[in-house]
Amino acid sequence: MKKFLKILFILFVVVIVLAGAGYTYLFVAFPKVSAAPDIKIDATPERIERGKFLSNSFAFCIDCHSDRDVNKFSMPVVAGSEGKGGLDYGEGAGFVPASNITQDKETGIGSWTDGEIFRAITAGVSKDGKYLAPMMPYALFAGLDKEDIYSIIAYIKTLPAINHKVPKRSLKFPLYMIFRTIPADANNFGKRPDGTDKLKLGEYYGVACKFCHSQSDKGVYLPGKEFAGGVEFPMPDGTTIRSSNISPDKETGIGNMTKELFIAKFKSCVDPANLDVKKRGFNTPMAWNFIAKTASDDDLGALYDYLMTQKPVQNKVEKISLQGMK
Ligand code: HEC
Ligand code: HEC
Repeated sequence: MKKFLKILFILFVVVIVLAGAGYTYLFVAFPKVSAAPDIKIDATPERIERGKFLSNSFAFCIDCHSDRDVNKFSMPVVAGSEGKGGLDYGEGAGFVPASNITQDKETGIGSWTDGEIFRAITAGVSKDGKYLAPMMPYALFAGLDKEDIYSIIAYIKTLPAINHKVPKRSLKFPLYMIFRTIPADANNFGKRPDGTDKLKLGEYYGVACKFCHSQSDKGVYLPGKEFAGGVEFPMPDGTTIRSSNISPDKETGIGNMTKELFIAKFKSCVDPANLDVKKRGFNTPMAWNFIAKTASDDDLGALYDYLMTQKPVQNKVEKISLQGMK
């Protein structure tokens, strides 16, 4: 009996040591990302212009990294707050505020090298090599054209410094262990479509649409549900809103929406008079105003054409759930 207890004790010690070693390994070995590249981006006016366009439209940088006016429809960005960060993207995972990406040297990224910014956007680690949570969609940006990322960097370095200390993030167990294993060197950059191929252009610009309009499980899109909506977003007033089915299904998607109406839905949100939440009857995380202010009719038309080539998925979405309404 004594011998049995001794063996049990030894086994116990072995398990503890192995678990400790595994835990230490996780912290030492990850994130597995190379040193920041040694690049100096020439901030030409063309690059700044292109970066301004992307950051204020389909790459959504400014949408996530600024204050939003929750009292207006589609929660427009508050002018003068561009890049200051602070909004929480944690949802179920904890508290994950967007970082200050203005040029402030103390609270922003004013002292970062171009290579460090490039690595953060495409590989998911901060200046000091610590992992970023995937709410910063770096894996998505790793599929952009490198030249477009250079343009985004050239532009965000023009954001005036705002001294704003963003509070520290806090992640729930076991996410702080899982998230540190996700960052990876980007090695599959995309190619910017030249603009003549509208479908390719729509596909390139539509990546972030997919993000909100396709259900996923642990970061993997559910097969056969692309663009079929139903993703839930908790709203500040306690309601829950679900993204629409934007696949070309005629009955439950946007198959019967004309291109003109599709474009008009966005463009009507440029006019502040159309951002009255009471008149609309609901508010939405869908960045109608943000995109409409920057994207041209042509860009939106390309998105529409691309969506129409997708597989129609029948999925009826109940847009708003009042459950939990405060
Ligand atoms: C869906 C919202 C979202 C979008 C879109 C987004 N970000 Fe972020 N970003 C975040 C969050 C949240 C963090 C903080 C992550 C963390 O602390 O783990 C972050 C972190 C960063 C950081 C790291 C800063 C630091 O101090 O470590 C940089 C740089 C950055 N983002 C730049 C960008 C750029 C450039 C774009 C557009 C190409 C962009 N982000 C798009 C949410 C977003
Ligand atoms: C932050 C998440 C989010 C992103 C990103 C997003 N959407 Fe949405 N979208 C929603 C939600 C939620 C709704 C439903 C509420 C509403 O109508 O505003 C919606 C509604 C829509 C509708 C209305 C469909 C209908 O039947 O009335 C269209 C069209 C649409 N989105 C297209 C797009 C396109 C195109 C993109 C990419 C440029 C995009 N969305 C990006 C969340 C998002």
